[in-house]
Parts: sequence; structure tokens; C-alpha cells
Amino acid sequence: MLIKTNNQGFVHTIPSEITPEATYQSRRSLIRLMAGGVAGAALASWAAREALAQDWAAPGQHPALARSKTSVAGALSLEKVTEYQHASTYNNFYEFGTDKADPAQNAHALKTSPWSVEIEGMIKKPGRYALEDLLKLSAQEERVYRLRCVEGWSMVIPWVGYSLSALIKKVEPLGGARYVEFVTLADPKTMPGVGSRVLDWPYVEGLRLDEAMHPLTLLAFGMYGEVLPKQNGAPLRLVVPWKYGFKSVKSLVKIRFTDKQPATAWNKAAANEYGFYSNVNPDVDHPRWSQATERRIGEDGLFARKRKTLLFNGYEAQVGQLYAGMDLKKFF
Ligand code: MTE
Repeated sequence: MLIKTNNQGFVHTIPSEITPEATYQSRRSLIRLMAGGVAGAALASWAAREALAQDWAAPGQHPALARSKTSVAGALSLEKVTEYQHASTYNNFYEFGTDKADPAQNAHALKTSPWSVEIEGMIKKPGRYALEDLLKLSAQEERVYRLRCVEGWSMVIPWVGYSLSALIKKVEPLGGARYVEFVTLADPKTMPGVGSRVLDWPYVEGLRLDEAMHPLTLLAFGMYGEVLPKQNGAPLRLVVPWKYGFKSVKSLVKIRFTDKQPATAWNKAAANEYGFYSNVNPDVDHPRWSQATERRIGEDGLFARKRKTLLFNGYEAQVGQLYAGMDLKKFF
């Protein structure tokens, strides 16, 4: 195991190493259910468990509340997993409103079944892929990732899913494909925020193909060993842990392979504030605030210290080479 320490005494690890052995023992059975070839069985009880996950989203009821109090063992104790209650009630999902509490309050209207993802563009196997098939495509595993929001806060969340690369390989990109565009649901009937002019809906994001293929890029179906709560992007979302949170799109409905850099929703809204790359970078300030430090959700209070933000959110060893030779101030 490789542990890197910086001069603040913080310990960075590769994401898989943040997961404490003991913390999630009690829900290993569910992970196994989702991870094995029994994804179909997991899906059979999908609706039931989704209802359960929604119920548990009520503060104080989710078993993860108790479990997540366990700090990450030994030297990794600074990476305490964020409590489920915070991760599921302090959200950005503008389709359901711009207040952090809006998604948890409004997302119940989101209809997550049936669900499919249209995959198109420069690939050999375009088509509409049912959620059921996507769930079964690859073994799912739990990965604890930091998520750093561009607004200056962060969380540590145990996600459940598999590397997006498994899906990309399956649809066979053509030689000329260089970028991947991600489009999310924009349903004015169930999403009150879509009526607002904050963004040009639908919410669109993009990655370079090699970023999308990087093993850290996760297609997530669950968190804390349960199906994703709707406010966290059910039934499937991206998690790109070395980029600001807005690249991690929720409630994904379309993936398009292209040779041109996609026009993304936040970039269209304010190009000088939200670059295409949006790699977490303490040295590149947002025009309206510094990105040098962050507040870990759940560590609020008078004496809560701010944490230093790490280049690539601490995943430099894994992803740094993707940007070799690039001026990160220019390509922010
Ligand atoms: N995806 C959609 N469709 N709409 C959004 O508003 N917000 C993004 C991202 N994905 C957003 C989205 C932002 S700004 C962040 S920080 C993360 O979701 C937050 O994810 P979380 O609420 O699960 O922590």
C-alpha cells in the first residue's frame, strides 16, 4: 500500500485504500449481491429497495448513520466517511431547485423506472440500453471517493458502481471519437428547476475519451450500499473524483461519442468560471473565490478547520499523466 503524506500531515491514499475494512462489513451482503453475476437478482428487488432507500433518507433512520460514525482506521483517520444524512440532504441538483435542501425535498417526483440510456455518435454499437442491461454489464464494487464541489465543500462517499470504461468498451468507439458528451434528464413535469433560466437545459457535461476511459471514472448506481437516492442522481450517474463535482452528472439519459469538445451547460452559462476540464486545482481560483481550501461537510462549527484542497482532489498519482505537458491554468 502506498501512502503519500504532504507537509500538512494529511494522508492521501488511492481511493480504494480509503475504504476501511470494518466500516461496511455489515452491508457486504448487499454489495456482493450487486457486484456478482446476480445483478439481475438485485434488480428484481430494485423497486422495493428503492422505496426502502427513500424511506431511509429520513434523518436518523438510515443504518449508515451509525456505521459512518466509524472513522477510517489508523493512519487514514482524516478520511472519515461523510454521514449518509449529509450526503443525501445537502445536494446540488438544479433540476429540483437551487437550494441545497431542494433536491431531497423535491426529487421524490422523479420516475426512475423504466429507465434507459441512449448511446450514440461515433461508436460501432449505438442503441438504447435498458437500465437492467447496464446494471448487469460489469461487476459492481464499492469505491470511497472524495467529491469536491466547485463551491468549496467536499464529502467522502462510498459509491457503488463500475468503471465507465466497461460500458465504453462494449459500445466500441470509432477511431475518430475523442470526446464523450453526457446528457441528463430534463423533465419539466417532475423537475421544477427546469422551468428556471439558471442553465440551458438539459444539463450537459463532457469528458475527453481518455478521461472517460480512466478506471477511476465511475458509473454509479448506488451509495452507502443502497440504490442511489433520487436527490443523488438515481438511477445512474457519473462520479469523476478528480474533477469538480459538477462534472459528475446525475440521472444520465444519453451518452454521445464525438470528435468535437462538447458544449457543456456550466461552460455555456459562464465560460470564464467553468472550464471544460474543471480539474480540482488549488492554484487556479474561481474568478469569484479561492479554490485553495475546502470545507468538509459534517465538519461545520466554530472550530472546524478548513482543509487544503489537493491538486486533482488528491488523485494526482492516478490521473496526472492524462494532462502531461498541458498548461493547467489555460486548460482549467
Ligand atoms: N447533475 C445534474 N443533472 N444536475 C445538477 O445540478 N449538480 C452537480 C453534480 N451533478 C448537478 C449534477 C454538482 S454542482 C455537484 S457538486 C454534484 O452533482 C453534487 O452531487 P451530490 O449532490 O450527490 O453530492
